[in-house]
Amino acid sequence: MTQLMPPLDDLLVTDEEANNLTYFAFAKSHKAEPALAPTKASVGEMPDVLAGRYRIERLLGAGGMGAVYRARDLLSEQFGDPDPYIALKILSEEFAESPDASALLYSEFALTRRLRHDNVLRLHSFEVDTDCQRAFITMELMRGLTLDKLLCERPLGLPWKELRDIALPLLDALAFAHARGVLHGDMKPSNVMLSEEGVRLFDFGLGQAEEGILPGLPHLSRNRFNAWTPGYAAPELLEGQPLSASADVYGVACVLYELASGKHPFRRLPSTEARDGHLERELHAPRNLPKHCWPALRTALAFNAADRTITAAQLRDAMGATSSLLQRLRLRA
Ligand SMILES: Nc1ncnc2c1ncn2[C@@H]1O[C@H](COP(=O)(O)OP(=O)(O)O)[C@@H](O)[C@H]1O
Ligand SMILES: [Mg+2]
Repeated sequence: MTQLMPPLDDLLVTDEEANNLTYFAFAKSHKAEPALAPTKASVGEMPDVLAGRYRIERLLGAGGMGAVYRARDLLSEQFGDPDPYIALKILSEEFAESPDASALLYSEFALTRRLRHDNVLRLHSFEVDTDCQRAFITMELMRGLTLDKLLCERPLGLPWKELRDIALPLLDALAFAHARGVLHGDMKPSNVMLSEEGVRLFDFGLGQAEEGILPGLPHLSRNRFNAWTPGYAAPELLEGQPLSASADVYGVACVLYELASGKHPFRRLPSTEARDGHLERELHAPRNLPKHCWPALRTALAFNAADRTITAAQLRDAMGATSSLLQRLRLRA
């Protein structure tokens, strides 16, 4: 349905970066084109104020289908709210014309709103600006660093104490989503923020509800819509299987491995390539990860979904457990 913008010089990405981008295709074929990160041009002309209320201040980030801006809620400000700042996610102009894209943005809103959890980004409202006919979501403004930026600053990974403070809330958020029948679909470092208020999982733009949950929500057929991030998507997803909780577990395990070692577990390769190249044989326990956590993380990284016999909740429990030796020492103290 969409014509992607011709590549611009400043949009050229390396192969490695391309494997971190979410891929989109609104097409019959399973072959997807990499979506380009939108620039000002591809996002289109943005009005200064949306829906007569939200003054756009600056671009915070851009992804496959749109952009996120920092904005000021003029109404809250008028009532003296000391913190009238919000974040606003809006589809880029090219996607805004597609009813599928608006439905997808609404689906992101409905899925995320189902999750009232300290470690899931809080959304405020779904709105449409009648002048420019563009749908957008308003949400809590996170102030902090996404994990991909954090990893740039910490190329050797994080010590266990710091890693644990991210891993446990993140797994807690994912386990909660799964328990509420919500699948994320795009677990990767740029979709997790270490904010001033703690860890936040966000971007359920590729999320799906499990069968029977939110039944009124339009179900986008996988034949028409494919999206994945090759470096973090489980092999079965890349091979056209439906999204599952187990695929989210593979994605989060890649993120945790990367946080622990500073390196992606499979050289950032698409999981199908990593599997076919038997890269699991080279997989070592990250230095910063306590030994007793490794079997659980290794199971979560299994290429074969049938061997990935661990849930997000079990992985959280394994990461949260203290080793029996540590436990004994603590008991003695
Ligand atoms: N609520 C928010 N507060 C602050 N920054 C945000 C917020 N939401 C998104 N961002 C920034 O915008 C980027 C893109 O947002 P995301 O929701 O992941 O969109 P996409 O679906 O395009 O990937 C994020 O990686 C993050 O840097
Ligand atoms: Mg994203």
